[in-house]
Amino acid sequence: MKTTIRKRVLITGGTKGIGYAIALLLAQSGYDLALTWASDEDAALAAAGTLSPLADIKLIRADISDSGSIDTIHSALEGTRLDGIIFNAGLTCRDSLEEIKPADWERIFFANVHFPVFLLQRLMKSISEGGSIVFTGSAMGIYPHAVSLSYGVSKSAVHALVKNLVKTLSPRKIRVNAIAPGFVDTDWQKTKPAEIRSNIESKIALGRFCLPEEVAEVYKLSLENQYLNGEIIVVDGGYSYK
Ligand SMILES: NC(=O)c1ccc[n+]([C@@H]2O[C@H](COP(=O)([O-])OP(=O)(O)OC[C@H]3O[C@@H](n4cnc5c(N)ncnc54)[C@H](OP(=O)(O)O)[C@@H]3O)[C@@H](O)[C@H]2O)c1
Repeated sequence: MKTTIRKRVLITGGTKGIGYAIALLLAQSGYDLALTWASDEDAALAAAGTLSPLADIKLIRADISDSGSIDTIHSALEGTRLDGIIFNAGLTCRDSLEEIKPADWERIFFANVHFPVFLLQRLMKSISEGGSIVFTGSAMGIYPHAVSLSYGVSKSAVHALVKNLVKTLSPRKIRVNAIAPGFVDTDWQKTKPAEIRSNIESKIALGRFCLPEEVAEVYKLSLENQYLNGEIIVVDGGYSYK
């Protein structure tokens, strides 16, 4: 009898929001998963409980603002082949140029740019030929933003990183892309005041926030489509067209 080897994908911040929506879609599609989380153990256990009947789930506690978490993930995945990595977890800081402190600027850059770079460096030998890496950029890395300066600039760096990594990863037959979501209705957005939310909706051609499930479909496409490489795929419902 022929046995099919199940593929495994690592998703950082895979227990809530966009990361969880991707995890659910991939588990339903036959992938095994490694999911990282940082502080909400109840949510992590609940996510694993829902996904376990569908897939083998490894849960790894790893905070992207802590360099030690790179070792933690590397050790937890020792001997595990990975067919894909989805760098999803990210941090923001809403301090303006006048307010932001060097330590906060560095924390945002560490979490959004340095952490995925050096985690990828450690995991390179574990990624199968034909594997796929998906980063998470942002529409805020494309459109100028007065507040969240560190966030917008760090996400622009993620977009540039993807373009540069094509040169490094192509000889190893690994594809790399980024998804740049606009405004996705996760806790990140749900906690904003109603007035700010309706201001955002007024600038989106579709007039509403993106559902996590809608953007998850694009991550899956990016993971699987064999000709997609070096792209920054914007999923913003037509932001700034209104
Ligand atoms: N939502 C949007 O509108 C939007 C738009 C553009 C780009 N993005 C990007 O999409 C990604 C996910 O956003 P989201 O809205 O889904 O976020 P979210 O709902 O806040 O996602 C939370 C997930 O990330 C984990 N997480 C939070 N802080 C972490 C940390 N310090 N270290 C490691 N993991 C951490 C959480 O684990 P715990 O709960 O255990 O901490 C959880 O699994 C981010 O990179 C964000 O920049 C989001």
